[in-house]
This record gives sequence, C-alpha cells and structure tokens, in this order.
Amino acid sequence: MISLGPNGPTVTPLGIGTWAWGDRLFWSYSNDYGATEVQAAFEAALAAGVTLFDTAEIYGMGESERLLGQFSRDAKVPIQIATKYGPLPWRWSAESVAEALTASLNRLGTDRVTLYQVHWPFNFFMSQETLCSALADEVKRGRIEAVGVSNYSAAQMTEAYNLLASRGVPLAVNQVRYSLLNRQIETNGILETARRLGVTILAYSPLAQGLLTGKYSPDSLTTPTGARRFDQRFQRSGLEQIEPVLSLLRQFGEMHSRTPAQVALNWLIAQGSVIPIPGAKDAEQARANAGTLGWSLDESEVAKLEQLSRPWLHS
Ligand SMILES: NC(=O)c1ccc[n+]([C@@H]2O[C@H](COP(=O)([O-])OP(=O)(O)OC[C@H]3O[C@@H](n4cnc5c(N)ncnc54)[C@H](OP(=O)(O)O)[C@@H]3O)[C@@H](O)[C@H]2O)c1
Repeated sequence: MISLGPNGPTVTPLGIGTWAWGDRLFWSYSNDYGATEVQAAFEAALAAGVTLFDTAEIYGMGESERLLGQFSRDAKVPIQIATKYGPLPWRWSAESVAEALTASLNRLGTDRVTLYQVHWPFNFFMSQETLCSALADEVKRGRIEAVGVSNYSAAQMTEAYNLLASRGVPLAVNQVRYSLLNRQIETNGILETARRLGVTILAYSPLAQGLLTGKYSPDSLTTPTGARRFDQRFQRSGLEQIEPVLSLLRQFGEMHSRTPAQVALNWLIAQGSVIPIPGAKDAEQARANAGTLGWSLDESEVAKLEQLSRPWLHS
C-alpha cells in the first residue's frame, strides 16, 4: 500500500482508470464493449487486489460514477474512489463545489470519497483561494478524505499546496499525463516540485492510451477504436517511431515473464511516489494490469528504458 501525500489515505500502488466506462465521446462505450465488460473489469481488479478507482463527474456525463456506484454496492472488500470536480465557467461560488460533490456522492452511492481532485487548473470566475477553501471545508465536513489537483503546472500546484496548507489541509496528489512516451513532467518541474512538496503523482494515460501494450503496430491488423483513430501516434509513421521502445519492453517482458504493458507500468512505479491508473475495459485488461504488482524491474533495466525513451522527455 502507498499513501496519497505523506500522511494521507493508503491505497494500492496501482489504480484503475474508468474514463472509458460509459464514455461514447472519446471511447466507444456501448459499441465495442458495455456495462457487462466494465463490471467484469471491476470484479477482476478487486479479485487481483487493486482497489483504487479513478473517475470524474464528466466521464460519460456521470455514467462512470453511476456504474462504479452500482458495482461497489456488492463489493466484498473496501474500495477507494478518486473522483474529480470540473471548474466550469458557470460554477463561480463556493456552493458549486458542495453541490457538485453532493451529486458525485449520490451517483457513487457513498457519503465519502477517498480523493477529490480539481480536474483542470481553470479559474474562470472562481479564484483558487475560494476553490481551495471550499475543498478544505469538505475535508473538515468529512465528505473528502484527501484533496488533489489534476493537470496543474508546478507553479499552480505550489499555489494550491500553500492555499490548502493555510487551512491545515495537505495537497495529496497532482494527477498528470505520464508514461514512457509522455515524460514532460520530468522536464517542466512538475515531478521535482511534487517530490519536494510530498505530493503523490497519479499517472494518467500510463499506457499512452494503449500504445505501450504493443498490440498496435505498423504490421498488425488491430486498429484503435474511438477518437484514437484520428491520433497521428496510432498511424503507421507514429507506430514506427515507438518500435524501439516496444522492442525493449518485449525483451524485458520475456525476461520477467511479463507483458510489455506490465513492464511499462512497472517502470512508472520504479520512479517512486507515482501511482499509474491504467484504464481497463474488461476483465482481461484489469487482470493483466494488476500483474504489474508483485515484482520489479532491476535498476539497469529502469535506466535502459529511461535512456531509450529520452526523445519523449518533452512530449
Ligand atoms: N485527469 C485527466 O485529465 C485525465 C486524462 C486522461 C485520463 N485520465 C485517467 O487516467 C485513466 C487512464 O488513462 P487512459 O484511459 O487515457 O489511457 P491508458 O490507461 O494509457 O490506456 C487505456 C487503454 O489501453 C488499452 N488497454 C489497457 N490495458 C490493456 C491491456 N492490459 N492489454 C491491452 N490493452 C489494454 C485499452 O484500450 P483498447 O483495448 O481499446 O486499446 C484501454 O482503454 C483514465 O481512465 C482516467 O481515469 C485522466
């Protein structure tokens, strides 16, 4: 188990992302997979010991939270839910935070979440002071165990950290894009600042939306579904560029009897205070991703992957 922030709630060192649960805008929920498959993913994650679920009020317009609420009613073990507040333009008063949280808790069928994150660093009409103070109020009220932010730069994270600290509340996490193919947080100050402040990184899109599984390759017939079809990284030239990384993932995978995806996620965990939250759409993916835990790459393997993925330090 690992804590969110220095003394925050403890969670499994790997979570599961649920953006694709109910989402038809980016993913292709209800075409290629549906409620039966994502329920099986939920159950497989629990059976494999992964109990941290990341969702957001906006995923599937509330459907991801609703499904999670429905599945967790019958769960035999306690689970930890991380959800997100959207700082939208019409949410300009502190009451909007309380209202949005009430709606999320209702959909989730619970009276408390482990982690409540601000989805983006937007401050249209609500200042960060008002927002952080409203979040601190909810911690005191007991409806949130820990506060997080998402997509915040190093400076924005520091500001939120200070504002929350003035109310005696720690900033537990910054949820940002991080994978072997998206290493920007190592060069733009986010990772360094998070370490200094004791803020845990939740790594989103840790498989680069499926690229690091190796199942999409220039010669394979598998094509991505949903909006990824229009992403250059999934076209032939993009796939050719990442082949050296995949080849090393396969090589290390064979040595440890693991898949390329498990090696890629294990590399993220090796960075320390980083919790990957790979998305899973079915039981097989949830089970496979849980296989990231219980073993480790050795130091030289971690270093070789770091060296080979340097071209992605700025993307
Ligand atoms: N805070 C934010 O702004 C933000 C932004 C993005 C994501 N997130 C969070 O991060 C989570 C994960 O990110 P993500 O979904 O963008 O990308 P990801 O985790 O890198 O990739 C997920 C996709 O990869 C494929 N996959 C996953 N595990 C697999 C396995 N074991 N074998 C084969 N294929 C596998 C699946 O798609 P296919 O089977 O269709 O290939 C799956 O939907 C989200 O669910 C969400 O909770 C947060």
